[in-house]
Order: sequence, then C-alpha cells, then structure tokens
Amino acid sequence: MLSLKPLRHAFSMCFCLLLVWISNTANAQSADKFFPKSDLMPIGSYYYPEQWPHEYWARDLKKMAEVGFDFTHFGEFAWAFIEPEEGKFDFKWLDEAVELAHQNGIKVIMCTSSPTPPIWLEQKHPEILMVNDLGVTMQHGSRQQCSWSSPVYREYVSKMVEAIAKHYATDKRIWGWQLDNEPSHYGQYDYSPAAQLSFQKWLKNKYLDIATLNKTWGTAFWSIRYSDFGQIRCPNNKELIAQANPAAILDFKRFNADEVTGFMGMQYNILRKYILPEQWITTNLMPTHDQVDPTRFTNLDFVTYTKYLVAGYDKGLGPQGFRMGSPTSIAFSNDLFRPINGTTGVMELQPGQVNWGKFNPQPTPGVVRMWIWHAFAGGNKFVCNYRFKQPLTGGEQYHYGIIGTDGVTPSRSGLEYIKVINELKKIKKDYDPNAKMPKGYASRLTAVLYNPDNRWEEDNQPQTNQWNFMDHLMRYYGALKEFNCPVDVITEDKDFSKYPVMVAPSYELLDAKLVERWTQYVENGGHLVLSSRTGQKERSGKLWEMNYAEPIYKLIGAKVSFYDLLPDTTWGTIKMGLKTYKWNNWADIVDPMPGTETWATYTNQYYAGRAAIINHKLGKGTVTYVGPDTDDGELEKAALKKVYEQAGIPIVNLPKGVILEWRDGFWVGVNYSAKPFIVPIPATAKILIGSKTLNPADVVVWK
Ligand code: GAL
Repeated sequence: MLSLKPLRHAFSMCFCLLLVWISNTANAQSADKFFPKSDLMPIGSYYYPEQWPHEYWARDLKKMAEVGFDFTHFGEFAWAFIEPEEGKFDFKWLDEAVELAHQNGIKVIMCTSSPTPPIWLEQKHPEILMVNDLGVTMQHGSRQQCSWSSPVYREYVSKMVEAIAKHYATDKRIWGWQLDNEPSHYGQYDYSPAAQLSFQKWLKNKYLDIATLNKTWGTAFWSIRYSDFGQIRCPNNKELIAQANPAAILDFKRFNADEVTGFMGMQYNILRKYILPEQWITTNLMPTHDQVDPTRFTNLDFVTYTKYLVAGYDKGLGPQGFRMGSPTSIAFSNDLFRPINGTTGVMELQPGQVNWGKFNPQPTPGVVRMWIWHAFAGGNKFVCNYRFKQPLTGGEQYHYGIIGTDGVTPSRSGLEYIKVINELKKIKKDYDPNAKMPKGYASRLTAVLYNPDNRWEEDNQPQTNQWNFMDHLMRYYGALKEFNCPVDVITEDKDFSKYPVMVAPSYELLDAKLVERWTQYVENGGHLVLSSRTGQKERSGKLWEMNYAEPIYKLIGAKVSFYDLLPDTTWGTIKMGLKTYKWNNWADIVDPMPGTETWATYTNQYYAGRAAIINHKLGKGTVTYVGPDTDDGELEKAALKKVYEQAGIPIVNLPKGVILEWRDGFWVGVNYSAKPFIVPIPATAKILIGSKTLNPADVVVWK
C-alpha cells in the first residue's frame, strides 16, 4: 500500500515553515524608516528612577540633558514598581519620570520588565521558576530566573506588557521600545517541567511522529529509542553517565533559541497592537553568546547589542590590550547585527570600569570614546550608555556610570561620552545625504556566511580541546578587517550575489540546495572560501553516508580525505609560497582533482606533501578550500589575500588593531594596537576629528 506518511510529513513541514516565515516577517517593519540618516547617531544613557530618591530625578534628568544626551532608557527591571500587587498597575511614578525627561528634551526608550518579576508572582506561582542543569530551582533575588516556556509566566508577562502598552499607546514622548533585557539566562539552560514539555512539543512539531525522530537522532545507538514524545527529556550532560546524543543537543539548542525568539515575538505582537507606528520595538542581545541566536530575531523591527570589552576576559593586542579589548569585538557585532533587519544600534556600551568581570581594570584613557566612534563607523543608529549614575547599592556597586558616586560629577569615562556627543554635533554640518561609498572600498564588499547550527554542533563535538568555532571564524573575519573590507555577516536567507567574495568558515551542516546555491554563486563570478570541517554533515547532524564532505567535492574540485589533530605542544608545518606556517588545532587533508591548483602543502607528519589549501576555478569564479585551523591565523590570512589578488580586487594592508570604515560619507579610523599608525588620508580630504597620526585608543574622522 502506498504510504501517505512522507507526503503528509512534507506538507506539514512546508506548512510549519510557512507559519514560521509569516510570524517572522509579518510584524517586522523596514527598520530604516525609524532613523533619519541626517541624525547620524544619537547618544543616550540608562536611568532608573525607581532606584533613586524622588527628589533627585529632576536634577539628574536635567544634568543628562545639559551634558548633551538625546535619550534615556527606563524600566527594564521595574516590574515590582509597575505592578506592585497583582493586577494593580501603577504608572504614576513612571509618568512623572517620562515627563521630566520630556521637559528636558530627552526622548525615552521604554522597556518591558519581564526579566524581573515581582516576588508576589513567584510566591503565588513557583512553577514559573526555571530549573538549572543541576536540578536547582532558581529563586527570587536576581533577574532572568523565570522559564520562557512557562505558560503561567507568559500570561503574566502578557498582562504586564499589555498594561504598559495601553498606557503609553499614543505617547509621543516614547521614542521606541526594548523588550526584556539581554534575554539569555546568562549561559544557564532551563530544565524545568515547563521547558521539558515545551521541548517535547517543539520536537513533535518538527518530526510529527516518533519513528522519524528515532531515525533522525539515531536512537538505536545505546538503545535510547523512544516510543512517545512524552518520554524525551531536555538533554542534560549533568544527569547522564556519558555524552548525550549530539542530535538531541543540537535540537535542544535550536529549541532554546526558538523559545526566546518566540517569547520576544509574543511581547512584540502585544505592543504592536497599541503603539504608534513610528515607534520601534527591539531587544538587546549579547552578540556572541551562544545561547541566543540574534539572526532569528527577524520578528522584531531590528535587534540591538550590548557590549563590554574590558572586564579581564579579552586580552586585546599587546601588553595593554586588556584595557582596550579586541578590534574585532565591536566590529563583528556591527557586522552581524546590521544585516539582520538592515539596521542596528548599541543598547548598552561600557561606561568605564565594571564590577562583574574576571578582573576589572580601568580602560585605557580615551578608549571609551574610541568605542563609541567605532560603533558609529559600523553604521549604528544610536548608542546608549549603561548607565547614567553609578549605583550606591545593589549588585553593581562598583560599576561606573557617566556620573560618579557623589551623584553630580562626571567620571573620567563619562567625560569621554560627553566629548563624543559634542564631536558628533560638530560633524553633522559635514553630513552629505548624497555621499556614495568609495569605489575601491565597495569593490571588496565581503560576506561571512554564518549559521549557529555549525557552532552548536562543532563545539559540542570539538574532537580536540583546541577547537573553538568562533575563534576559527574570527581568524577569517579579523583578516578581512585588516584588508579594509566592508563585511556583512549574513545568513542563508540573504542574497549572495551582491558580494564579490563570500567566506563560509567551517560550514559543517549543509544540504544539496546550499551546495547548488554556492555553485551558482561561483559560476556567476563569486569567490567562495570554505574552511575546515565544511560539508561533513547533513542538517540533522548526521554524517553523510558517503566519503567525508563528499557533497562539496565537485564544488571544491577536491576530495577531503581525512582530518588530523595534534597535541598542543606539537606543531604541524605547512608551506605556502616561500613561507612556512604552523598549525596544531585542525587539519583537513585535501586531495585535488585534475585542474585544481594546490596553494599550500603539509610539510611534516606522515602526510607531508599532500595539499592543505586548494583553489578551484569554476565558471567565472573560484572556490578556495582551506583545510587547517591555526592559532595565529596567518595562514588563513595569506590564503584570503591570494583570493583577492587572483580576483583582481584591491585590498589594503592595515596593521592588526587598526580599523578604517566608511559610513554615510565619513571615514572613521580607530586604533586598538599598541603603536601609532599613519593613516593614508589623501591630501585632498578634510580631516574633521583627530589627525593622520592615529595613536592607540584614538580616533580620526575625515571626509
Ligand atoms: C549588562 C546588563 C545590564 C547590566 C550591565 C552591567 O550585561 O544587560 O543590565 O547588568 O551588564 O555591566
């Protein structure tokens, strides 16, 4: 008998995809319309009226205006004040703060305060609390302790959002809206009963029947086999003797990312029903946090990011780099967030010394100003500083603000914000609405193709303690910035054809459709760069029932025969041109087919003489496959350089740490390195800020 199952499955998959597509696109508006280009980049600062004595508000907001801030940010942690008792909303205090801001000419970003439920709610409904991987139920006393999957929590959030939306529905003093705050659970995953149920539902929607799930996950392995979706638990290595099924982990990560996206979408839909069309809705995300996927948030008007570079984790460049952060940190956030809905902003930027890091050094004098300019260079529509006043009590006591502990004197870094505010005002006079991106710069527009599936899958199965997906990606991204390429980090739903070069670092999970799109892109003249581990698996995380990475062989004109990994004390060597490079993280051993050129060769280990990097001409374009992952990224950089040279695309050779970008008619240079750099500014250019000699932590702007 002919089974209708596959058909039914295919139909329902299409239907689900259609629904996801509709819910992802229906609400989102074209984000550009919210921000007139000539405004360049307004700067604002967070203020918490509920945290300060009432008599300070007028003084503080006046001061905020006096030093030049354009907007403020209220209420993301204020639920207990907005709804002090169930169903009794109090906006009187917030109205007063909004009015004070308005009287001082300051616009307001209003927030929904879903990350900080009031204690009465948690006491009445403890089932809304999330449970971590050790089985510990999170409690009241901090933030983000509730489960995005809990229907009860969602219901209360909806009521709170509806109340605030109705209250400020047509209020023109509100500039835009932020949902929640850094929704993420800060690296913890939710294993509460609500999350378990929601995960089962998500799986059922995806696989429809348990047999399909068993097959896709390969549950025959270790007799994991399920007979019902209700038996499946969120995979948790802390409750398992050996490693969890990787397919279950991959789906769990996807589920989590969907869950938080849906939670934000739910809030968006309520707000959109009430607020003015010119008011935008966003949320603020930590850019490289792996729990949340910014690229999924096409259901908001746009997404913004939060950024803290100096907290002891980021070594930066040179001996003082820990005071500046890495040149790729703000750069990558700009280039990842801007393409999502075509616009972005920085919702939080470090105000100076912080209190929660590994250690909390003072940032280099001047670097806060440089970060703000870097945000400008990357196209941000606004920058908001976290926070106006240093708190005297609570969990962030030693965290700088624009204003120090006496409540009136600007901090050293606060003065840097004020300086940029004035500098931005000054360059507004030079804004030219008709400015076009300079040709040479535009000609090296490059896409980095990114899908969090690859990161989730590879970091779950690193094969070596030296593998890290984001480090791998950053080696390519960093080199592109040193070549002065404008970069868009894009997802597969975007058009590839406008990018002369596309780099898809370690794209492990793919399907025939993507290989076909890449092939067409190259045949039409695109230059594609692929790297270690690409194409080894199906989208489900299953290895192809073929040779390793076989679906890309035709495209790359080579076979990826095997990979090797070394101890961190042993070095593999590779020769490219006249130079020898070292690796020990990862090496794909590649065997070119006739007609494919070998660019680099392994020179030690038992496979000495075999190819490490190959280049294949296809149609009007080229494909380059880079097999190794090195520590310093020099080999990857050399390969990329050759790609641009071969394609006849002119690049610039900037020293590590110097970033030059063009935006709305302005060139901006920033320097994260330890040495001054003489910027090659043409004699005919007009220098607006700074000088040709770009010192560390300094800025130059010209047009
Ligand atoms: C951010 C967070 C803010 C504040 C800040 C302190 O990650 O969103 O609410 O806690 O850190 O640096």
